[in-house]
Amino acid sequence: MSTPLVKLLDAPVALTWLDPVAAKIADAWRAALPRSVKDALHGVWLGHSLHAVLVLVPVGTWASAVVLDGIATAHQLAGGDEDVRRGVDDASGALVATGLVGAVPAAMAGLTDYADQHPEQKRVTLVHASANLAGIALFAASLVQRGRGRVGSARALALVAMAANSAGAALGSHLTYRWASQANHTQHVPHVTPSGWYPVARHDDLAEGSPVQVRVGETGVVLVRRGERVFALADVCSHLSGPLSGGEVVVEKGRDCIVCPWHQSTFALETGSVVHGPALSPQPVFDVRVVDGGVQVRLRELPGVASPPPVEGAVDDAA
Ligand code: FES
Repeated sequence: MSTPLVKLLDAPVALTWLDPVAAKIADAWRAALPRSVKDALHGVWLGHSLHAVLVLVPVGTWASAVVLDGIATAHQLAGGDEDVRRGVDDASGALVATGLVGAVPAAMAGLTDYADQHPEQKRVTLVHASANLAGIALFAASLVQRGRGRVGSARALALVAMAANSAGAALGSHLTYRWASQANHTQHVPHVTPSGWYPVARHDDLAEGSPVQVRVGETGVVLVRRGERVFALADVCSHLSGPLSGGEVVVEKGRDCIVCPWHQSTFALETGSVVHGPALSPQPVFDVRVVDGGVQVRLRELPGVASPPPVEGAVDDAA
């Protein structure tokens, strides 16, 4: 059962009338940026969401500014030294300005993630962004008032701005934790894939460069033949669970890769590493061997992650 808080945070999901404008914004942003810039803004180079890192600047500086505003107000009410009060207010203004500058790259990274979301995620993101834009406008107004020496209204505006940004932050975290945006959609694979080797195909039946889906237990695995070699990755895309077996095999940066059909995340077949986003997490890799013309696969273990024991159909390690 949903709590009142969750119902409130989920409310934007029902705003389907946002879809046409949401799609237009996403298409325009996607078309405006070269792929290298999109990869950089997703955080492919970092292996982590860049938006999640960059938002720390505005969130941290604005929260600190509001705290300083409280200190300045208390100091003023207590009849404290005016120079000290002015110094605290100046520091608060500097923090607000720093947050406004930091909000620009954070918003760009967020918009880039948004462009490759599911429609229901886009609706939540639009409301999240609207709350944050309201907060940005209010902090900017607060800074203007500070410049005019109207510290009372500057502090009040900053407080309201912080409330707007807090609502935006709540929706942003809900988007990740409830709606799994930018989460790793293959995290479960080692926990549900039985350990051991499994025969899954005949080598001669695999056509060059044509992805094929097979199964190990309940786990979908995509097989790709390149010459005499066969590669195997988890079929479910780490970005948003698209089927890699429906994708295209390409050579990218000198590596054999597979492209997800949903949002074109590109993974190296040999290592599962992300070559192009929006995915940030690598694909789980299966070891492959060919025994008497039969292709066998085994999930490559991650350090410290235990898989379930072998199930029916497993073959001997030395087979
Ligand atoms: S599901 Fe989005 S790129 Fe694969």
